[in-house]
Amino acid sequence: MNTPLLQVNNLAKSYQGSRPVFADIDFDVNAHEVVCLLGASGCGKSSLLKAVAGLHPVDNGEILFRGKPLHKPDARIGLVFQDPCLLPWLTVQQNAAFPLTLQCETKLSQTEVQARTETVLQWVGLQSFADAYPDRLSGGMAQRAALARALVKNPDLLLMDEPFSALDAITRFNMQQLLLKLLAHRRNAVLLVTHDIDEALILSDRILLMGGSPGHIVHEWRIPMPQPRAKHLHELIEIRMDILERLSDVAGEHLLPNGVVT
Ligand SMILES: Nc1ncnc2c1ncn2[C@@H]1O[C@H](COP(=O)(O)OP(=O)(O)O)[C@@H](O)[C@H]1O
Ligand SMILES: [Mg+2]
Repeated sequence: MNTPLLQVNNLAKSYQGSRPVFADIDFDVNAHEVVCLLGASGCGKSSLLKAVAGLHPVDNGEILFRGKPLHKPDARIGLVFQDPCLLPWLTVQQNAAFPLTLQCETKLSQTEVQARTETVLQWVGLQSFADAYPDRLSGGMAQRAALARALVKNPDLLLMDEPFSALDAITRFNMQQLLLKLLAHRRNAVLLVTHDIDEALILSDRILLMGGSPGHIVHEWRIPMPQPRAKHLHELIEIRMDILERLSDVAGEHLLPNGVVT
């Protein structure tokens, strides 16, 4: 069997002087797979994603990317956060090209940088805004520019932390559809953090439910139904009910006698 693209083994982390934020985290992401980490706010999803990105040190365990230990950010892993984090003094084209301009090992020609950037801007439908500055973009457009920047090196793995949570419902739906369309062609693997059960059900091949304190993986679901998922509502509703039940179980672990969730 092929080695998974990403292997997370027995991972644990605490911030200085605090109790562990997550512990005993084990999961894999295979090539071309979309895995969602689903959980309530504060259960440690962002901390886990940052650790997996090599941005934060961990106390215990290991992260293997393509079978090798990962201790720092890797050029073959793209990142998208809730905040698009575009550089305001650069145009959309320059923002999308930014990771290529940082690439020191293989110097790309100006023509190559331009060609690659034009392609990703086309993928996300922003070619006519290539020369615009970020302050001219709507929230959805800014997030599309951030997606273009993350895809410009065609990473093997995209790590996404609540990438669509700040968007209105319609823009959010459009972004989810755009992501699915891109993945159908590019086939990047994705580890996406969300607190939205429906988003997880629409996008994922697998859902990992995270909860508890310290945060841990409570349960895993495979979502084998092909896209478009709207054609499989009946099966999805059953999984949704199961997720809700597990979520209330894990909240129950931390219920005070008066029923307040700690
Ligand atoms: N840089 C940090 N320093 C100290 N504590 C942090 C830091 N980042 C997150 N935390 C704490 O870790 C816990 C989990 O946070 P986070 O990973 O952001 O959860 P989630 O993304 O699931 O909402 C929270 O209690 C939060 O206050
Ligand atoms: Mg978070």
